[in-house]
Amino acid sequence: MDRIVLITGASRGLGFELAKRFVAAGDIVYGFSRTEKHWKTAGRSLPDANFRLIRCDLTSGRNILSALRKITKSHKRIDILVNNAGYCGRLARVEQTCADELEKHLRQNLMTAFLMCKYVMPGMRTSGQPLIINVSSMAGTRAVPRLFPYSASKFGVLALSQAIAKENEGAALKCITVCPGGMNTQMRQDLFGKEDADRQQKPDFVADVIDRIVQGRIEVLSGGHIVIRHGRITGIYPPPAA
Ligand SMILES: NC(=O)c1ccc[n+]([C@@H]2O[C@H](COP(=O)([O-])OP(=O)(O)OC[C@H]3O[C@@H](n4cnc5c(N)ncnc54)[C@H](OP(=O)(O)O)[C@@H]3O)[C@@H](O)[C@H]2O)c1
Repeated sequence: MDRIVLITGASRGLGFELAKRFVAAGDIVYGFSRTEKHWKTAGRSLPDANFRLIRCDLTSGRNILSALRKITKSHKRIDILVNNAGYCGRLARVEQTCADELEKHLRQNLMTAFLMCKYVMPGMRTSGQPLIINVSSMAGTRAVPRLFPYSASKFGVLALSQAIAKENEGAALKCITVCPGGMNTQMRQDLFGKEDADRQQKPDFVADVIDRIVQGRIEVLSGGHIVIRHGRITGIYPPPAA
């Protein structure tokens, strides 16, 4: 398809599954991650010149701008931005949660998505069909006990998408939110252990749904969100017109 796609957190998990689908569709995919730890494995299963990983810690605006310069040297526009990178700390009740932990979640999940949108959006204006996909969570639609900082940051991601959609009403730019339930990835394993992670839906399924949204086979209106749980789409908000 020749689109220029940028995915944060593309070295493993959902981000990597998404990268595979865009590359298979013929797009040029740039992926950001903080470390090179998973690049070898990623490169082995996706040895394609159209998948380019760049080191970038998204918590720094300066890092983001310098990573974006590496892309804009070769391309005049970005067509699709997927804000997928995320962080989830330890389980704790509200009264046992330190302020630092709340701050860290807001910085890692909300500030990163905000900075990416802020800096990438101007470069999307020349695209024919610019699209921003922000990955939140089911925990970003209703609070999960002992995960308040994570939930709060992911509720914020939903607000970010809605604000962008409203500010761009009538323009070509669309912005939607994807809210997966538990997925079998490193993040889930770190939080609840391997046995629990093995029982969760595969990131492949969530990536397939996102792929169908991008292809226009599933309709999610700009500013809307989709919930994907236990390997099923459990809701699209607002519901598409009948
Ligand atoms: N897994 C679940 O059960 C679940 C459920 C609902 C929603 N989600 C959401 O889905 C998204 C993907 O999750 P996942 O489970 O695939 O995560 P994952 O397996 O932990 O992968 C996270 C990816 O993000 C990168 N990353 C993390 N922080 C970063 C930062 N500050 N700067 C740059 N890259 C960063 C990681 O690479 P480095 O470590 O090298 O930076 C990695 O590539 C997240 O937004 C998550 O909150 C996950």
